[in-house]
Amino acid sequence: MSDHARELSFDEFDELNDPRDEPTGFEYILSRRHFLASATALSAAGAFFGLGALRPTHAAGSFGFEPVAANSLDTVTVPLDFSWHTVVAWGDPLWSDGQPFDHATRGTGVSQERAFGDNNDGMSSFFVDGRTVLAVNNEYVNRSIIYGNRASGLPENVDDIRKGKAGHGVSIFEIERVEGAWRPVIDSPFNWRITADTPMEITGPARSHDLLKTTGDATGTMALGTWNNCGNGKTPWGTYLTCEENFNGYFSSSNPDYALSDAMKRYGIGLKDRGYAWATADERFDISKHPNEPNRAGYVVEIDPLAPASTPKKRTALGRFKHENAELVVADNGHVVVYMGDDERGEFLYRFVSEGRYVEGSDNADLLEAGTLSVARFAEDGSGEWLALTPETTGMASAAEIAVMTRMAGSAVGATTMDRPEWVAAHPGRAEIYCCLTNNKNRGKKPNKGGDPTPVGGPNPRASNIYGQIVRWRPAGGDHTAASFEWDLFVIAGNPMVHDDANAGSGNINADNMFNSPDGLVFDSKGGLWIQSDGNYSNEGDFAGQGNNQMLYANPDSGEIQRFLVGPKECEVTGLCWSADRKTMFVGLQHPGEKGGSRFPGGGDTAPRSTVIAVTRDDGGEIG
Ligand code: FEO
Ligand code: CA
Ligand code: CA
Repeated sequence: MSDHARELSFDEFDELNDPRDEPTGFEYILSRRHFLASATALSAAGAFFGLGALRPTHAAGSFGFEPVAANSLDTVTVPLDFSWHTVVAWGDPLWSDGQPFDHATRGTGVSQERAFGDNNDGMSSFFVDGRTVLAVNNEYVNRSIIYGNRASGLPENVDDIRKGKAGHGVSIFEIERVEGAWRPVIDSPFNWRITADTPMEITGPARSHDLLKTTGDATGTMALGTWNNCGNGKTPWGTYLTCEENFNGYFSSSNPDYALSDAMKRYGIGLKDRGYAWATADERFDISKHPNEPNRAGYVVEIDPLAPASTPKKRTALGRFKHENAELVVADNGHVVVYMGDDERGEFLYRFVSEGRYVEGSDNADLLEAGTLSVARFAEDGSGEWLALTPETTGMASAAEIAVMTRMAGSAVGATTMDRPEWVAAHPGRAEIYCCLTNNKNRGKKPNKGGDPTPVGGPNPRASNIYGQIVRWRPAGGDHTAASFEWDLFVIAGNPMVHDDANAGSGNINADNMFNSPDGLVFDSKGGLWIQSDGNYSNEGDFAGQGNNQMLYANPDSGEIQRFLVGPKECEVTGLCWSADRKTMFVGLQHPGEKGGSRFPGGGDTAPRSTVIAVTRDDGGEIG
């Protein structure tokens, strides 16, 4: 591989921006005593959930399929009696004035603005008058792919950067089923592209605060664009939530001597970007000229997906961090609760509880405008609590400051540093919530960016965690707004063919279902839990036998986990939603060929393209 094709992952980029010595204090050392303590806590919590042994059983809510074997093929594998087809791929035009995807040029700024974005991630389906509309996040672009037409593999002119910015954001479009296959409806009035340049309103406690004022927006009320849109959420009032994750990697400084603030460092803002070069074409990404611009990203954005003329709203009440997804439930008392992870090594898990209450049929449009943001603290004994982030608890000046500098607020109250919280998913039938802790090579070795220690234990039981785990918790009294909860680990991923210690994984992991780095996590309507992986696909060493990234079906009652789908080479499986009749499952396949090893989905000498596929049962039955 040539040097230009070697792109740092977002995690590698953050590590590079954050060179710190590894401390060697006692709290970072994995001691046998400590591990046993947390193992005891796990079995105690497991007993609480009645899942001590996690033995596979068949339980209500599961459906039959023959699990698929791990593989390293450059295609999608689904079980016998299931089929898949491509719905839309990066660069497919959504309007008749767009251009069919050009594998040689890989598009232009204009063609990309009229087409499905790149690197699809979280997505939701919406239904109106018998029509189906998909809202799909387009998280980022791989330079080596989107600029594969350039010898340098880099953006070389202003139009290349325009193309890159338009590859980001959200694609909203109608789909229809024609002769059994789903496809976009070209020129549908619902089709809408949101990019890194789309105007959006800043709402909530940080609206108009000095931290958000810039040269381009002296009032701190209107921001341009959304980017690095990772996971998603959906509200019962019909809106779509898109979550800004690694927003930091787009900012840079034209002044090499610019002094970074502590806040910039905590959020991974550095003098160099991750290689997108946006600041060379759009000065607002130059922090030495516009130091407040990074404060206007890192939020959950609420979008009315069926109203393309509407203005998306950045909801600062939900805090600013590297948002993974936003899992929304309405508590029995009517308050809206949103669970959210901050996906970086040693960062925190958050909960928002709305001030107002949801009332079906009334105007709920601004329920995410105000409420209480809390952060999780897990105890070794299987209990946990939500710590409210207020000026009183944090010592910070105002709710606005907490909304913008949320990580510092979490540190101030002593939140538990986590192994990269990715998607959160709430059980549809009972008050029980699950969160993927994808991996954390720094666990037990390095503090987080705020200097908070990352001791081994509790829901993060392994030092230098390379496989990940899924934590779950039950709020006290079944009340999502309660201050306390009880937790256990649903699964500890591992490789029992390579290890016979904690890295073999928990009892519900075996040679046939093993995987690493759980990331996407979605419950279906029947209480089945779908796990999507974004991990090491080398199929070697610690990861031998695990193959490409994949999607698994888990039974939350029995703990049984079965592999349902394997993605193509070098992809991550991320994003999941259903058709109105539940007979089609839409699955996202992101960045096949990120290292040059895939031609999915076109094959031959085509460009590899991130893709949304449809999965159906051959007997036409429901699929979750
Ligand atoms: Fe975009 Fe944490 O995954
Ligand atoms: Ca993810
Ligand atoms: Ca991930």
